[in-house]
Amino acid sequence: MSERILDEPQSLYRLDSLGMFDALYHLSEQCRRAWELGTALTVSARDEIRQVLVTGLGGSAIGGDLLRVFAGRRLPVPVTVNRDYVLPEFVGRRTLVFAVSYSGNTEETLSAYRQAQDKGAQVVVLTTGGKLKEMADRDGVPVITVPGGISPRAATGYLFLPTVAVLQRLGLIDPVDGQVDELIRHLAGMREELKPEIPREENRAKQIAARFYRCLPVIWGASGTSEVVAQRWKGQINENAKAPAYWNVFPELNHNELVGFQEPEELLRRLQIVILRDAHDHPRVQKRYAITREIMGGAVAGITEVQSTGEGELARIYSLIYLGDYASVYLAALYGIDPGPVKVIDHLKARLAEE
Ligand code: F6R
Repeated sequence: MSERILDEPQSLYRLDSLGMFDALYHLSEQCRRAWELGTALTVSARDEIRQVLVTGLGGSAIGGDLLRVFAGRRLPVPVTVNRDYVLPEFVGRRTLVFAVSYSGNTEETLSAYRQAQDKGAQVVVLTTGGKLKEMADRDGVPVITVPGGISPRAATGYLFLPTVAVLQRLGLIDPVDGQVDELIRHLAGMREELKPEIPREENRAKQIAARFYRCLPVIWGASGTSEVVAQRWKGQINENAKAPAYWNVFPELNHNELVGFQEPEELLRRLQIVILRDAHDHPRVQKRYAITREIMGGAVAGITEVQSTGEGELARIYSLIYLGDYASVYLAALYGIDPGPVKVIDHLKARLAEE
């Protein structure tokens, strides 16, 4: 596919059968609605909450990671993300469990939900419907029902912000309404710079996609700030562009991955590294970026730094997510691939259902 497609909005839209560009464009409105839905839920804690656990998979789990990082600095109790059929042993009456599944039919999440109920945990369900909603309604468990019709990975606003709203509602974190307002405004501004109609020379997401094209993207974030974003970029490249990608975090990668850039040379020449930077990265981590680049020298095809924008933590983190989401859809276009359908996941789920 010619790189010219990046500057042909109509061709970009034509390739996109499930409206990924449209969902991306409306992320700001999605966040507003998600916050309304979350804050509207009447919920109270039956027992003192000692742990928070989010159980989900894929696009429905990444919101849990966002919560882990976001609430990690605000909550006196730990937040854990569970991507499995089985819940950890610590889950009990004093655990707040968010069971999150966009479709409401993911078997691992249904199994974890049942366990949470058996263990007497305080459960809140976040879904569009499916079996999860049926079970929760039957069990009298509070449900936040979010609108369907988009891909789970395009629904991060719906799958993350309501969990923050519930923590706020329960008095576990200080109000963050101001941050949410800023997030909504910030996304509405960013989309005017990232949408298909903005030409490549002015569009950061298209430029990043062009760098990734025919290369292997490696995304580096930093613990406590952009770590989830690095994972998100990887997942979005996989699911939207149907291409491999890898991620890691500072400072951990300075203790292992950094050593591994000597061989094989042919492969290293195809690596494109992106470093996700945030003003609140630990000061010692900020020093590591330059030293790491110095050590890397010219070992890989390229290293690009991306800086978050916005004031509050939510706007800053989402500014990086948004850029990566757009870049992954442009990368799909460069490969001539429809970003929406994930036939491999659908096939796997269907095959499992037969077993
Ligand atoms: C598809 C996607 C997947 C799903 C995952 C779990 O767009 O992002 O990663 O999120 O297969 O399905 P749900 O979200 O329906 O529980």
